[in-house]
Amino acid sequence: MTRRLCLITGASAGIGAEFARQYAALGWDLALTARRTDRLQALADELAATHKIEALVLGEDLGSDGAPERILAGITSKDRHVDALVNNAGYGLPGTFFNTVWDDQATFLRVLYTAPIELCHRILPGMAERGYGRIINVASLAGYAPGSAGHTLYASVKSGLIKFSESLNAECAASGHYDIHCTALCPGFVWSEFHDVNGTREDANTLPKWMWMEAPPVVKAGIEAVNRGQPVVVPGLANKGLATLTRIMPEPLGRAIVGSQSRRYRRID
Ligand SMILES: NC(=O)c1ccc[n+]([C@@H]2O[C@H](COP(=O)([O-])OP(=O)(O)OC[C@H]3O[C@@H](n4cnc5c(N)ncnc54)[C@H](OP(=O)(O)O)[C@@H]3O)[C@@H](O)[C@H]2O)c1
Repeated sequence: MTRRLCLITGASAGIGAEFARQYAALGWDLALTARRTDRLQALADELAATHKIEALVLGEDLGSDGAPERILAGITSKDRHVDALVNNAGYGLPGTFFNTVWDDQATFLRVLYTAPIELCHRILPGMAERGYGRIINVASLAGYAPGSAGHTLYASVKSGLIKFSESLNAECAASGHYDIHCTALCPGFVWSEFHDVNGTREDANTLPKWMWMEAPPVVKAGIEAVNRGQPVVVPGLANKGLATLTRIMPEPLGRAIVGSQSRRYRRID
């Protein structure tokens, strides 16, 4: 019997690489995509040898035109289809909206918002036909919190991904595709390369240790939630508490707190 296959974007580092490890340990085949193919290949070789699974490597820049279509064509050309999709690739774009060029904002929107949504749209018909599908959209606790100065579109894109996942999950249930689930995974701060890439590592490291999680429990929470059909999951007790606070706290107070703390994880220069 052919094993199920999970497509993971941004699998060359951090949370995406951990998704690859956990799906491989569950006996799934993998399609790994990101720009750094050397890292993807090393991970694919390691997981194929350890778990006796097949791991395809599809180098692609999600910010380039037609990337989602090319990634899926790469999978189809191997006579495979996607049973699970993890839309994980992402980064923070430092600076204010005013001071960043439009091309950078447009690429950001493509990588973090339209490419994930296009991948969902392209794989859903096949999932519906086969009656099975799992989609995890890696959003963020930032999608709950008030917007702050710097990395302007990050919170709004993550907030949009949460709403999109809720709607998609509800539509799948309503259409009778009961074994197709979509979940927004909303981590808080996670140890990965994310803060190195966006240049906030030094300041972010001054945040209290209780605010940070390692990738494995974050990923485990995402996989368990999507299997349960839960539309949104916030991993970790501290993050759950923060998510609840953003809902019950008066909005001006929430904005004041985020405004005073956000310099530790958002750059406006
Ligand atoms: N770390 C946190 O604190 C945190 C918190 C909440 C949510 N998140 C979210 O979690 C997700 C994963 O982030 P992470 O923490 O694991 O960061 P990471 O360690 O920096 O990994 C980011 C991944 O995204 C890929 N990527 C970036 N730009 C890409 C592009 N243009 N095309 C294709 N792939 C691209 C990178 O691969 P290449 O560079 O090889 O292309 C890398 O594999 C992101 O969506 C992020 O917003 C992170």
